[in-house]
Amino acid sequence: MSAQKSPCKMAIASDHGGFALKQKLIRYLQQRGLQVVDFGPEAERSVDYPDFAAQVAEAVSRKKVAGGVLACGTGIGMCIAANKFKNVRAALVTDLFTAQMSKEHNNANIICLGGRVLKDALAKKALGLWLDTPFAGDRHARRLKKIQQIERKNFK
Ligand code: RB5
Repeated sequence: MSAQKSPCKMAIASDHGGFALKQKLIRYLQQRGLQVVDFGPEAERSVDYPDFAAQVAEAVSRKKVAGGVLACGTGIGMCIAANKFKNVRAALVTDLFTAQMSKEHNNANIICLGGRVLKDALAKKALGLWLDTPFAGDRHARRLKKIQQIERKNFK
Protein backbone atom coordinates (compact mmCIF):
# COMPACT_ATOMS: atom_id res chain seq x y z
CA MET A 1 0.00 0.00 0.00
CA SER A 2 1.29 3.51 -0.72
CA ALA A 3 1.21 6.41 1.70
CA GLN A 4 0.21 10.02 0.91
CA LYS A 5 1.50 12.77 3.21
CA SER A 6 -0.73 13.63 6.20
CA PRO A 7 0.07 14.72 9.77
CA CYS A 8 -2.28 12.15 11.31
CA LYS A 9 -1.31 9.22 9.15
CA MET A 10 0.59 6.35 10.78
CA ALA A 11 2.32 3.48 9.02
CA ILE A 12 2.28 0.04 10.61
CA ALA A 13 3.72 -3.39 9.81
CA SER A 14 4.71 -6.59 11.54
CA ASP A 15 6.10 -10.03 10.98
CA HIS A 16 4.39 -13.24 12.13
CA GLY A 17 5.61 -12.68 15.71
CA GLY A 18 3.86 -9.31 15.86
CA PHE A 19 0.91 -9.96 13.57
CA ALA A 20 -1.79 -10.44 16.22
CA LEU A 21 -0.59 -7.33 18.05
CA LYS A 22 -0.52 -5.33 14.79
CA GLN A 23 -4.17 -6.09 14.13
CA LYS A 24 -5.09 -4.85 17.60
CA LEU A 25 -2.94 -1.74 17.31
CA ILE A 26 -4.54 -0.85 13.96
CA ARG A 27 -7.93 -0.83 15.65
CA TYR A 28 -6.53 1.18 18.56
CA LEU A 29 -5.04 3.82 16.23
CA GLN A 30 -8.25 4.06 14.23
CA GLN A 31 -10.27 4.47 17.44
CA ARG A 32 -8.01 7.41 18.22
CA GLY A 33 -9.02 8.96 14.90
CA LEU A 34 -5.73 8.32 13.12
CA GLN A 35 -5.43 7.16 9.55
CA VAL A 36 -3.46 3.93 9.33
CA VAL A 37 -1.46 2.63 6.38
CA ASP A 38 -1.03 -1.12 6.91
CA PHE A 39 2.08 -2.39 5.12
CA GLY A 40 1.27 -5.96 6.08
CA PRO A 41 1.52 -8.82 6.22
CA GLU A 42 -2.15 -9.41 5.53
CA ALA A 43 -2.19 -12.76 7.37
CA GLU A 44 -0.20 -14.57 10.04
CA ARG A 45 2.35 -16.32 7.84
CA SER A 46 6.09 -16.66 8.34
CA VAL A 47 7.80 -13.61 6.82
CA ASP A 48 11.14 -11.82 7.18
CA TYR A 49 10.84 -8.76 9.40
CA PRO A 50 13.36 -6.57 7.47
CA ASP A 51 11.03 -6.60 4.43
CA PHE A 52 8.25 -5.06 6.51
CA ALA A 53 10.41 -2.76 8.63
CA ALA A 54 11.79 -1.29 5.39
CA GLN A 55 8.36 -0.28 4.09
CA VAL A 56 7.38 1.57 7.25
CA ALA A 57 10.85 3.09 7.70
CA GLU A 58 10.88 4.34 4.12
CA ALA A 59 7.48 6.01 4.55
CA VAL A 60 8.72 7.69 7.75
CA SER A 61 12.09 8.57 6.24
CA ARG A 62 10.41 10.25 3.24
CA LYS A 63 7.92 11.98 5.59
CA LYS A 64 4.92 10.36 3.89
CA VAL A 65 3.50 9.60 7.33
CA ALA A 66 3.72 11.23 10.75
CA GLY A 67 5.17 8.13 12.37
CA GLY A 68 5.40 4.36 12.34
CA VAL A 69 4.60 1.32 14.42
CA LEU A 70 6.51 -1.95 13.99
CA ALA A 71 5.80 -5.21 15.77
CA CYS A 72 7.76 -8.45 15.67
CA GLY A 73 8.34 -11.11 18.33
CA THR A 74 10.62 -8.93 20.44
CA GLY A 75 10.61 -5.62 18.53
CA ILE A 76 14.40 -5.90 18.30
CA GLY A 77 14.80 -6.97 14.66
CA MET A 78 12.32 -4.35 13.47
CA CYS A 79 14.17 -1.67 15.43
CA ILE A 80 17.58 -2.62 14.04
CA ALA A 81 16.27 -2.69 10.44
CA ALA A 82 14.27 0.57 10.69
CA ASN A 83 17.25 2.49 12.04
CA LYS A 84 19.15 1.80 8.80
CA PHE A 85 17.00 4.49 7.16
CA LYS A 86 17.88 8.18 7.12
CA ASN A 87 15.79 10.42 9.41
CA VAL A 88 14.48 7.39 11.27
CA ARG A 89 14.65 7.23 15.05
CA ALA A 90 13.13 3.86 15.87
CA ALA A 91 12.84 2.97 19.55
CA LEU A 92 12.36 -0.41 21.17
CA VAL A 93 9.68 0.18 23.76
CA THR A 94 9.24 -2.39 26.51
CA ASP A 95 7.21 -0.51 29.14
CA LEU A 96 5.55 2.82 29.86
CA PHE A 97 8.79 4.50 30.93
CA THR A 98 10.61 3.68 27.69
CA ALA A 99 7.48 4.71 25.73
CA GLN A 100 7.53 8.16 27.34
CA MET A 101 11.30 8.65 27.19
CA SER A 102 11.57 7.53 23.58
CA LYS A 103 9.47 10.56 22.60
CA GLU A 104 10.39 13.06 25.32
CA HIS A 105 14.16 12.61 24.97
CA ASN A 106 14.70 10.86 21.64
CA ASN A 107 11.77 12.14 19.58
CA ALA A 108 11.40 8.61 18.21
CA ASN A 109 9.38 8.57 15.01
CA ILE A 110 8.90 4.79 14.99
CA ILE A 111 7.85 2.70 17.98
CA CYS A 112 8.90 -0.97 17.96
CA LEU A 113 6.96 -3.40 20.11
CA GLY A 114 7.34 -7.09 20.87
CA GLY A 115 4.24 -9.17 20.36
CA ARG A 116 5.81 -11.97 22.38
CA VAL A 117 6.97 -9.60 25.11
CA LEU A 118 4.11 -7.23 25.87
CA LYS A 119 0.53 -8.02 26.79
CA ASP A 120 -1.91 -6.32 24.41
CA ALA A 121 -3.20 -3.88 27.02
CA LEU A 122 0.30 -2.70 27.92
CA ALA A 123 1.30 -2.41 24.26
CA LYS A 124 -1.75 -0.20 23.59
CA LYS A 125 -1.02 1.93 26.67
CA ALA A 126 2.61 2.32 25.61
CA LEU A 127 1.58 3.31 22.08
CA GLY A 128 -0.93 5.83 23.44
CA LEU A 129 1.65 7.34 25.78
CA TRP A 130 4.20 7.56 22.97
CA LEU A 131 1.66 9.36 20.77
CA ASP A 132 0.64 11.76 23.54
CA THR A 133 4.10 12.63 24.83
CA PRO A 134 5.70 15.75 23.33
CA PHE A 135 9.40 16.04 22.51
CA ALA A 136 11.13 18.06 25.23
CA GLY A 137 13.57 19.78 22.83
CA ASP A 138 16.33 21.90 24.41
CA ARG A 139 19.41 19.78 25.29
CA HIS A 140 17.73 16.75 23.71
CA ALA A 141 17.47 18.59 20.40
CA ARG A 142 21.22 19.25 20.58
CA ARG A 143 21.83 15.52 21.09
CA LEU A 144 19.59 14.57 18.19
CA LYS A 145 21.51 17.01 16.00
CA LYS A 146 24.65 15.07 16.89
CA ILE A 147 22.98 11.84 15.84
CA GLN A 148 22.03 13.54 12.57
CA GLN A 149 25.67 14.54 12.05
CA ILE A 150 26.74 10.92 12.55
CA GLU A 151 24.06 9.85 10.08
CA ARG A 152 25.19 12.41 7.46
CA LYS A 153 28.78 11.24 7.83
CA ASN A 154 28.07 7.51 7.64
CA PHE A 155 24.99 7.17 5.42
CA LYS A 156 26.07 8.06 1.88
C1 RB5 B 1 10.81 -14.32 14.35
O1 RB5 B 1 10.79 -15.62 14.84
C2 RB5 B 1 11.52 -13.41 15.33
O2 RB5 B 1 12.90 -13.56 15.19
C3 RB5 B 1 11.12 -11.97 15.09
O3 RB5 B 1 9.75 -11.85 15.27
C4 RB5 B 1 11.74 -10.90 15.95
O4 RB5 B 1 11.58 -11.20 17.30
C5 RB5 B 1 13.11 -10.51 15.60
O5 RB5 B 1 13.70 -9.62 16.19
